Amino acid sequence: QTQLRGDQVIVVSNREPYIHDRTADGIAVKRPASGLVTAVEPVMRACSGTWIAHGSGSADRDVVDAHDRVGLPPGHEEYALRRVWLTTEEEQGYYYGFANEGMWPLCHVAHVRPVFRESDWQHYRAVNQRFADAVVAEARSEDPIVLVQDYHFALLPAMVRAKLPRATILTFWHIPWPNPESFGICPWRREILEGMLGSTILGFHTRFHCKNFIETVDRFLEARIEHEHSVIAAGGEETLIESYPISIEWPQESERSGWKPVEACRRAVFARLGLARDSYLAVGVDRFDYTKGILERFHAVERLLEKRPEWVGRFSLVQVAAPTRSALEEYHSFQERIQRVTQRINARFGRPGYQPIHLLATHHDHDAVNELFRAADACLVTSLHDGMNLVCKEFVAARDDERGVLILSRFAGAAREMREALVVNPYHVEETADALHRALTMPGSEQRERMASLRMTVQEFNVYRWAGRMLADAGRLRLRERIQARV
Ligand code: G6P
Repeated sequence: QTQLRGDQVIVVSNREPYIHDRTADGIAVKRPASGLVTAVEPVMRACSGTWIAHGSGSADRDVVDAHDRVGLPPGHEEYALRRVWLTTEEEQGYYYGFANEGMWPLCHVAHVRPVFRESDWQHYRAVNQRFADAVVAEARSEDPIVLVQDYHFALLPAMVRAKLPRATILTFWHIPWPNPESFGICPWRREILEGMLGSTILGFHTRFHCKNFIETVDRFLEARIEHEHSVIAAGGEETLIESYPISIEWPQESERSGWKPVEACRRAVFARLGLARDSYLAVGVDRFDYTKGILERFHAVERLLEKRPEWVGRFSLVQVAAPTRSALEEYHSFQERIQRVTQRINARFGRPGYQPIHLLATHHDHDAVNELFRAADACLVTSLHDGMNLVCKEFVAARDDERGVLILSRFAGAAREMREALVVNPYHVEETADALHRALTMPGSEQRERMASLRMTVQEFNVYRWAGRMLADAGRLRLRERIQARV
């Protein structure tokens, strides 16, 4: 990152890294459950600058006002936090409506029909403009480096480009990009593609998503595509389309030394859940979202207990499901359905003192999740479709004892890197049930081999490499531009 020294970095994302809420004992700070925040926050601490995000906590405004509009992240004064305040109607149309009822299911192709309302689209466009104005207001030079995050801001790159033609705009799309047929149903496909192509660099997690994006542009826009260099030129500007697999910050020694030993984690978790000492535990940690394959996972547990009754009474799954977007009907009914399925399976196989599924539908902080990871025999990540998925990487980072088995969906971007996991098709319940049995009976030596290899991968390809590669590409393009400006 040395070539960026002195350059200003501005991040734009919908979700803020710290949420301040008013409680009876004053202001409580919460870290939201968001893969994006997990990944971007350490990068911001390393390269400072300003993070612009939607203020969503009940006390965010007080805290930020106290710091004269720009707030400082508690305990991390390395960068500044600027909130954009949205009205209820803006939040409804832009965030709940177009972003989460339109773009989210559109890109995940998760068999939930995207909803496209004209009024949501108007709000989405207006809010993108508000954030673009905030970027322009924060810019101290005519060529800042702007890091745009995710599907909430497809239009913003072109809006910033219009005001700051020399800015280096890096847009990272944290969710999948579908094929042209799937994307083509969006009524505003052209505007979205043109908006994104205002970026200098457009990043996805995998080559596969890059290829889908290039094919989508080829289908719906007049553009010159240089396949060899993965460059798209539309309206005179060039955009580099590149894959940058996101990751986590590998836990440092100072953090690890504070962890309780695995045995102590296991005792604490088993006692809390009332599990017998000699029983086995699998863990799942997700936002309570219909793309995460939670239903399919529960069906796999049911199938395991059905076909291998020796596990009844000896195996449980603890599922953390962090509430998310519950104001949307699709989420609400999904969450209710999962509650009903949990009750049914627990009634079918449970008995006094034993429950196969423990569903914890509340927010858990990093330490609580880490304790669960360290207590478990296996971790289940069964997304039906996922850009990358960071839960599997966090599980691996938590297991410095090199034990525990990762079961991972082939439809998560992470499956391309994490080859030593037991990779499953989550739609195939039988296969996942068999993988669970295999995980629970896997000899310690094989667990250790697989885990050691997974840990090497995640430690090496950590989030600094993700950001570092993107910023190095940006640095190269900036240099090239300066040289060309001279001739
Ligand atoms: C995914 C998205 C993020 C989002 C996160 C949490 O990881 O890619 O942009 O922040 O989910 O969802 P939420 O709607 O609560 O921000």
